[in-house]
Amino acid sequence: MSAGHRASQLEAGEVVRAGPTAFALTDIEAMRVTDGVATGGSKNISFDPSAGILRGAAAAASDDQTIVGLMRRYSEWASALIVDSAPEYAPHLRMGRTSLRTRDAGAPAISPRKDDRRLHADAFTSRPTAGARILRVFSNINPAGQARIWQVGEAFEDYARRWADRIRRPLTGEAWLLERIGLTRGRRTPYDALMLGLHDRGKLDESYQRTGPRRVVSFAAGESWLVFTDSVIHAAVSGRFALEQTFYLPVEGMVNPSISPLRVLERITGRRLV
Ligand code: SIN
Ligand code: FE
Repeated sequence: MSAGHRASQLEAGEVVRAGPTAFALTDIEAMRVTDGVATGGSKNISFDPSAGILRGAAAAASDDQTIVGLMRRYSEWASALIVDSAPEYAPHLRMGRTSLRTRDAGAPAISPRKDDRRLHADAFTSRPTAGARILRVFSNINPAGQARIWQVGEAFEDYARRWADRIRRPLTGEAWLLERIGLTRGRRTPYDALMLGLHDRGKLDESYQRTGPRRVVSFAAGESWLVFTDSVIHAAVSGRFALEQTFYLPVEGMVNPSISPLRVLERITGRRLV
């Protein structure tokens, strides 16, 4: 496989499956993961690899060294996988959160905006990326052999053109205020505001959710995959127990920056967005 091949596939919107180097739980980890490690079995657990802090775990699990160790091991494994798959990204990548997704992806969500069963491109409310790409590594670690099922939608540009001219622009001082009062970590750029607007408009558009183009993609237990979730339109249909590692990639680190959501949205709106 030629250098840059995987990176180009990812940038073109493909979900890239990892080879046979699967991530596997140890017996001890498997026991802890299945017995309801998240509060009420309903929340995902998130881990900050740089600070070593676990969030969303049941009280007893928050300093559970088995779970902390698992999250750390996964973040290292996912990093090695990316470096191996897309070595040109390595010098540019910034590490984000690790998550352990214990809840049933097909279960009802607390609100339509938080409902990942609805087609969307990822955009973070409190963590503006200022154009940097969201690259995620997922692994289906379901112990009973259950697949994780997604739907994958149309090209990002088609998705964006549906609502781009109808997204409210932030008020003067709004981004500053959000940062000031601690609702965002760093300044929400016009790019971040537009991505959030598209995320919300898309999820709330019942007709799009019913009839928008999509195909079903299934990930077997034991499988791992890489995907730019800020440009690949996706919805989780079903499945329990997955690990996920988020990375941020500056647009300049891409093989083809002109197909980044940032550049696509700048072309659509005719404005600079960061
Ligand atoms: C999502 O990113 O929307 C959910 C994907 C998953 O948990 O499988
Ligand atoms: Fe998502």
